[in-house]
Amino acid sequence: MSKPLHIALVGDVHRQFDQRDIAQFNQSDYDLLLCTGDLSNRWHWEGMAVAPQMARLQKPTLIIPGNHDTLTLPQLVAEIKQWPRLRRWLAWGQPRRLRQWQRALGPVQVGGYSVHPVPGGDDVAVVVGRPFAMGGSVLHCQPQLKRQFGVGTMAESAARLCQLVEQAPQSQLIFLAHNGPMGLGSRRDSIWGNDFHPDQGDFGDADLWEAIAFAQARGKTVLAVVAGHMHHHVNRKGKRTWHLVRDGIHFINAARVPRIFEKDGRTHHHHIRLTILAGEVTVTELLT
Ligand SMILES: [Fe+2]
Ligand SMILES: [Fe+2]
Repeated sequence: MSKPLHIALVGDVHRQFDQRDIAQFNQSDYDLLLCTGDLSNRWHWEGMAVAPQMARLQKPTLIIPGNHDTLTLPQLVAEIKQWPRLRRWLAWGQPRRLRQWQRALGPVQVGGYSVHPVPGGDDVAVVVGRPFAMGGSVLHCQPQLKRQFGVGTMAESAARLCQLVEQAPQSQLIFLAHNGPMGLGSRRDSIWGNDFHPDQGDFGDADLWEAIAFAQARGKTVLAVVAGHMHHHVNRKGKRTWHLVRDGIHFINAARVPRIFEKDGRTHHHHIRLTILAGEVTVTELLT
């Protein structure tokens, strides 16, 4: 590959995507935009206000639904508490909410257990992981995952992701997920570490970790793993690691929340720039 690929990484949106973002990305040199999801904050309908904004993007854009997307607040609580009957019951309306969400996003592609060739990248694909992930080794939104993808357990999820890796004709892969993989640290300020439990711990996803290991074992080059969910700001202790390189893989937590903020009398918009040239990856955090 002689021409560089430029990819914009937009972390958890949480209602923050405006006209300035649209103008900036539409006029940019980006080949592709990847978004880690969570358009809403608390109420699922908040995402329906943000989605039409994102639909105005003229660059190819791929998004994975986060745990705040298409879940009602009671459903989110039932998922956190793992109340079996209630989570099943409250998931009934989710297919309809997902259809509305997809429609509102217009040309933005909604991924999930899917593989997408990178425009302009001869041999590069994005593997999109499990939607609605919330960490903690639980298969959240199991009723919806079962209905939509036939995935009912964490083992089935890992197997599906490995199958996608196996079937992808491209040899260079970028993973896009809502929550990151396990295995990258168990401190509260680790890239996907648990900052809301006194015992801390690794809050990464086992199925994603398995798929990455599988890709490497099959001789694929994993260029980067992009996810969010565990926001940069760490409960009671500053900021978590948002980028690390291990075994040549760039792990990127893009969830700087809020992604639009005021500082020194200026409004800043956060995103991350990923450049790939001849298999070399460069990662830059940008405040524009
Ligand atoms: Fe999230
Ligand atoms: Fe989030």
